[in-house]
Amino acid sequence: MKSSTYRDSTPHLGSRAVVALVVLIMLVGCGKSGGGGSGDGDEPAFETRAELGEALFSDVNLSQNRTQACATCHNPEHAFIDDRVDAGGDIPAVSLGDDGVSLGDRNAPTAAYAQFAPPFQANVVRDRIPAGAPDYVGAIGGQFHDGREDDLAGQAAGPPTNPIEMALPDREAAVDRLLENTDYEESFEEIFGDDIFADTDAAYEAMAEAIGEFEETEEFAAFDSRFDRFLRGEYPEFILTKAAAGEALFFSSVFANCSRCHQNETSLNKEREVFTSFEYHNIGVPVNTAVRAANGLGPGHIDDGLLANPAINDPAERGKFKVPTLRNVAVTGPYMHNGVFQNLRTVVEFYDQFHTDSEHTINPETGLAWAAPEVPATVNTAELEFGRKLDDEDIDNLVCFMRSLTDARYEHLIEENGLDCGF
Ligand code: HEC
Ligand code: HEC
Repeated sequence: MKSSTYRDSTPHLGSRAVVALVVLIMLVGCGKSGGGGSGDGDEPAFETRAELGEALFSDVNLSQNRTQACATCHNPEHAFIDDRVDAGGDIPAVSLGDDGVSLGDRNAPTAAYAQFAPPFQANVVRDRIPAGAPDYVGAIGGQFHDGREDDLAGQAAGPPTNPIEMALPDREAAVDRLLENTDYEESFEEIFGDDIFADTDAAYEAMAEAIGEFEETEEFAAFDSRFDRFLRGEYPEFILTKAAAGEALFFSSVFANCSRCHQNETSLNKEREVFTSFEYHNIGVPVNTAVRAANGLGPGHIDDGLLANPAINDPAERGKFKVPTLRNVAVTGPYMHNGVFQNLRTVVEFYDQFHTDSEHTINPETGLAWAAPEVPATVNTAELEFGRKLDDEDIDNLVCFMRSLTDARYEHLIEENGLDCGF
């Protein structure tokens, strides 16, 4: 609970350690640092918004029962996903809330690389890749699977008071929790102004802003995967691996056509590619029946996807979801907005079923034919049928390419599952 509270005080114990230590003891001896929290010349524990945001991101005190932080569902040690095996009781696809009972209906996406999503915009006309493909017309960007928050700070304001997440009753309760911690109190006043705590909304939004700023740091965007190292000339052996063959398939519209949706047109430079266009599509994902049984919504419930975004009211948008980044995807299963698929290989076989003569008509995880889409009417069959059918070697290669998109610090998390990519 108190971890990292005083983590910055040690470096200050330099040559004047004795004097500093005496001052420190005096301060600690006083308990809280007095009324205004300023004027004593001390440096606040957190000097920048991002440093403050880092502490807040992992602070379980921002949840009602003090069991949950952002990091619980977006673990920095695991590519910022909810990797608790019992995240949702025995349903790992969705997250259990701070109350220990409430289950969500959507899988927690990685918070890494989320900083590159542009603010949500409803009616965009966008060139497609390759040139000559019909334009995309529709929504772009935003945070969440349905884009309902514009940016990271807006997003971060949600979970602390969301009843099925961190479950604090209101913003005031969150601000009270901040004020329990003198380091926060002093740092907020230093960074956001002495009277920041006079206004509950302003203080709450400052908290969200600090978290958002932490999520914009390089910790969330390392760009140091095998693929990046290859592009920078640091890993020439890449061309000998299955991932190189996968890359060719991935970026070719006559073959797998993945880049049609998983490429950011503005990043001509593949070194900064985030592997999502931030467009919205319905790719025919079936209901996760286990989740619906466990969370009480039942089999009749439909996740409207983009149509659930208050800015959208055209029924043609029902069942579309934001294209997710594929960075770190090899270690962020289960997959899709509802976590219905466990393995990356299953995802690629799922895509292949749309091709005429596909050999992948059975879901390898259920042993049954692929279940019907949750929202059949809006599936983008035209683009999913594009390209040619994939054989098992193609699928291996695509899986290996996606594995090569794993940040260096998460490479140890990749499970081989009998597939040797050559790295
Ligand atoms: C109980 C688990 C849980 C907690 C706690 C939680 N999240 Fe999330 N997070 C989710 C889920 C589930 C979604 C997807 C929800 C949706 O799309 O409707 C999500 C979505 C996000 C996204 C959107 C990513 C994208 O690509 O669209 C970001 C960013 C994020 N969370 C950051 C945070 C921050 C910051 C906190 C703490 C203030 C936090 N989360 C707390 C489960 C959680
Ligand atoms: C028509 C656009 C489109 C095309 C083409 C496409 N994708 Fe996707 N992809 C999406 C969307 C949208 C989602 C999210 C769907 C959802 O959550 O319901 C997704 C999800 C995924 C996921 C799951 C990621 C996660 O974190 O859950 C993977 C993996 C993936 N795609 C890989 C591929 C590969 C490989 C190809 C090529 C064979 C491909 N995609 C082609 C739009 C597309």
